[in-house]
Amino acid sequence: MSKYADELAQTAAAMVAPGKGILAIDESAPTIKKRFDAINTESTEATRRNYRDLLITAPGSNEYISGMILFDETIRQSTTDGVTFPQALIDQGIMPGIKVDTGAKDMAGHAGEKVTEGLDGLRDRLAEYRQLGATFAKWRAVITIGDSIPSDACIEANAHALARYAALCQEAGIVPMVEPEVLMDADNSIERCYQVTEQTLQALFHELHRQGVAMQHTILKVNMIISGKQCPTQADVQEVTDQTVRCLRNTVPASIAGIVFLSGGQSAELATAHLNAMNAAYKDLPWPLSFSYGRALQEPCLKAWEGKAENVEAATQALLHREKCNSLACDGRYSAEMEATAL
Ligand code: G3H
Repeated sequence: MSKYADELAQTAAAMVAPGKGILAIDESAPTIKKRFDAINTESTEATRRNYRDLLITAPGSNEYISGMILFDETIRQSTTDGVTFPQALIDQGIMPGIKVDTGAKDMAGHAGEKVTEGLDGLRDRLAEYRQLGATFAKWRAVITIGDSIPSDACIEANAHALARYAALCQEAGIVPMVEPEVLMDADNSIERCYQVTEQTLQALFHELHRQGVAMQHTILKVNMIISGKQCPTQADVQEVTDQTVRCLRNTVPASIAGIVFLSGGQSAELATAHLNAMNAAYKDLPWPLSFSYGRALQEPCLKAWEGKAENVEAATQALLHREKCNSLACDGRYSAEMEATAL
């Protein structure tokens, strides 16, 4: 048991406090460049800072958001007023988190599959991030569905790395947010997504136990059970809701502190509708179900911003709207009509 057990328990509970979720703003340099390309904005250290400043200082976010996941560059940057980003979050009662993996790389001997790297030197990096204010850390493994993939080797290698990172986090007093993401980009059915996600979660929890990771000090970040984007038959909200809850009940220990979903390329509204439907229909789950969205919280905000200072106010409102809708979805109180009205 970590000497930080009490602190870890407090942090994990606060991350999934009622009506609160996580805003993921930890895009790596190549990923944020892609997002900026879409709004014709150059990605420079200054534009990235301006954009993250908008996200971090949006007034009132702390009603809906418990923590934000930062990228290494971001945790070292400051607001326009000169307050470091992690301190600016702490001042609002929002916990700074940090992405600590160094990316999903091609897996040797396994065409089309990835294994996430970043264990080398992780103990020292975690100590530094804790100094900088981080109280939780994310590691994302990527599992791709395709012809005869994923392989057992890929699932197991990623589960092993996730478990070793999680153990190091707890040793350092940092709550691990373990993220095995089964991608939703292919043409697979929802049944195939269920089967691959179930196998991935079984492997993950097996490894977490083997590495001595404390479930009650861990947050699971996971994909929903959903049809692949290219699949001609798209499962409806009810089916996504039922299949996702069934998969989680079959694989996730009751003792885990909470489960948050990634959006994975779903539209902003659909990601909210899915979370809402789960929380409306299933009131007896052993863990809170919340959100840790990147794109589904940021997309309307990015579009409104377009890289221009004069759009910061509109972009802030777009962000707060999505944050509030997802906050309401945490206890099934969201409805599609809310999209038409300013909140
Ligand atoms: O690791 C993935 C991100 O933190 C969440 O991103 O909601 O855009 O899938 P997403």
